[in-house]
Amino acid sequence: MTGAAGFIGSHLCERLLADGHEVVGIDSFSDYYERERKEQNLRAARAQRKFTLEVVDLVDADLARILDGATVVFHLAGQPGVRPSWGGHFDRYVHDNIVATQRLLESLRESQLQKLVFASSSSVYGDAEMFPTKESALPRPVSPYGMTKLAAEHLTFVYMRNFGIPATSLRYFTVYGPRQRPDMAFCRFMEALVDNEEIEIFGDGEQTREFTYVSDAVDGTVKAASADVVGQIINLGGGSRVTVNRVLDTLEDISRIKVRRLHLPAAPGDPRHTGASINLARERLGWEPRVSLREGLTRQWEWFQEARGSVARATSV
Ligand code: UGA
Repeated sequence: MTGAAGFIGSHLCERLLADGHEVVGIDSFSDYYERERKEQNLRAARAQRKFTLEVVDLVDADLARILDGATVVFHLAGQPGVRPSWGGHFDRYVHDNIVATQRLLESLRESQLQKLVFASSSSVYGDAEMFPTKESALPRPVSPYGMTKLAAEHLTFVYMRNFGIPATSLRYFTVYGPRQRPDMAFCRFMEALVDNEEIEIFGDGEQTREFTYVSDAVDGTVKAASADVVGQIINLGGGSRVTVNRVLDTLEDISRIKVRRLHLPAAPGDPRHTGASINLARERLGWEPRVSLREGLTRQWEWFQEARGSVARATSV
């Protein structure tokens, strides 16, 4: 699994280990956010005998050695984040999302792989014309990040068409839950809430997202590894579209802390709405999202307080 120390990757590692699989995690521990958080993400997996970790950059790693004998490859590594992908940062997105994917695919040309599952993104749709958005909609990203994820999706097709690599792409819709990346909305909201700071909202807060709880995303990913879906692109969305304002109302209710809102200009690169048609995932993967926004947000809030508490305890010792 590439991107094993990340938010979704670390949960997927634990799930695969719990299912009895041997897992080789690959991660470069890039500096998008602090290494310590990623080490923490991997703590439970690393305690398991069937887990090994390779700290390498996919672009120049000896992938033939690392992937020797692998039956399934989950490709979750990448430079994430919609809003920071402008300017000089773009080079990193090209390196981590396009070049790294191409190197991985090259290394799999001669392999006997059963499945490559690629973690794509709802960001490939941009400002979709129809909601819920089907996989057949014309993808037209509105951020440099989304454009690189779409390029990586196309690369998996190129290698499937020419070398028979059995690839499936999953378009995750704004995943949240424990270990969420610190730059993502819910983590930032919770951070501001406990620090009694204003919560920064990009735009009027009436933009919608199809938020997806991490265990649902992981479950769909595991199902995609064994289902007969080679060549398919499949949405994984949480089941409902919610405004950012509504999320904040729910968070206020759960935390019992008054939310102070600060509206900033809408961020370049953010689509106004995302919303997934999940019929294909239902039909082809037998998948259904199970965790409601309220339940998932409650779990993330509990995790967040616990994680903050342990940092505070560590620094006060
Ligand atoms: C997220 C991930 O960050 C991407 O890596 C991923 O590809 C994408 O989901 C996807 O797969 O769908 P995003 O939807 O921007 O991107 O996720 P959040 O950071 O959780 O933002 C959600 C909404 O909250 C956006 O409309 C954003 O503008 C807003 N937001 C975010 C704020 O109003 N304030 C903040 O401080 C952060």
